Amino acid sequence: MLSIIVAVSENNVIGKDNDLIWKLPRDMRHFKETTTGHYIIMGRKTFESNGRPLPNRTNVIITRDKNYTAEGCVVVHSLEDAINEAKNDSEGFIIGGGEIYKKSMSLIDRIYLTKIHHEFEGDTFFPEINIEDWTEVDRRDFEPDEKNKYAFTILTLDRKR
Ligand SMILES: NC(=O)c1ccc[n+]([C@@H]2O[C@H](COP(=O)([O-])OP(=O)(O)OC[C@H]3O[C@@H](n4cnc5c(N)ncnc54)[C@H](OP(=O)(O)O)[C@@H]3O)[C@@H](O)[C@H]2O)c1
Repeated sequence: MLSIIVAVSENNVIGKDNDLIWKLPRDMRHFKETTTGHYIIMGRKTFESNGRPLPNRTNVIITRDKNYTAEGCVVVHSLEDAINEAKNDSEGFIIGGGEIYKKSMSLIDRIYLTKIHHEFEGDTFFPEINIEDWTEVDRRDFEPDEKNKYAFTILTLDRKR
C-alpha cells in the first residue's frame, strides 16, 4: 500500500521558499506517529528543507543528480525506483513536496490530508483532488490551543475501487 501524507491550507498551499509555513505540533505528532517505522519518499528539495533524515524511518530521496549523496538515506533517480524500494513495506509514504505529490497522485491508494482552516500565501501547492474518486474513512477535528494556532482537520481518504 502506498499513501500520501500532506498538510494543506484552505487555498491548497503546502510551502513557501522551500519551507513549511505553519507550526502545528499536534499535526507533526500525527505525521510522526503515522510514518514511524515505514519508508518515506520525498523530493530532494523536501529533504533539504527538512535538513536531515527523519529518524526511525527509511528516508528515500528522489533526485536527477547522479552524484547526490545523503548520509543515512537511500538516493534514487525516479519515482518508480523510490516506490520499488518501498515495495516490501506494509505502507509506504510519499511525504512531498509539490512536484513529487503531483507525480504520485495517480499511483497512491490513500491520502492522509491535514486541512488547515486558514489561507496562506505560498509558492508550492497540492494538486487538486477529485473528491468523487475518494472515500472519507476517518475525520478528526482539532481546535486551536496555546500550541496550535489554527484549527485543522485530519482526513483519511481511500481511493474508490
Ligand atoms: N505541507 C506539507 O505537507 C509539505 C510536505 C512536504 C514538503 N512541503 C513543502 O514543499 C516544498 C518543496 O516542494 P517542491 O515541489 O519545491 O520540491 P520537491 O517535490 O520536494 O522536490 C523536487 C525535486 O525532486 C526531484 N525530482 C522531481 N521529479 C523527479 C523525477 N521524475 N526524477 C528524478 N528526480 C525528480 C528533483 O530534484 P533535483 O533538482 O535534485 O534533480 C526536483 O528538483 C517546500 O516548501 C516544502 O516545505 C510541504
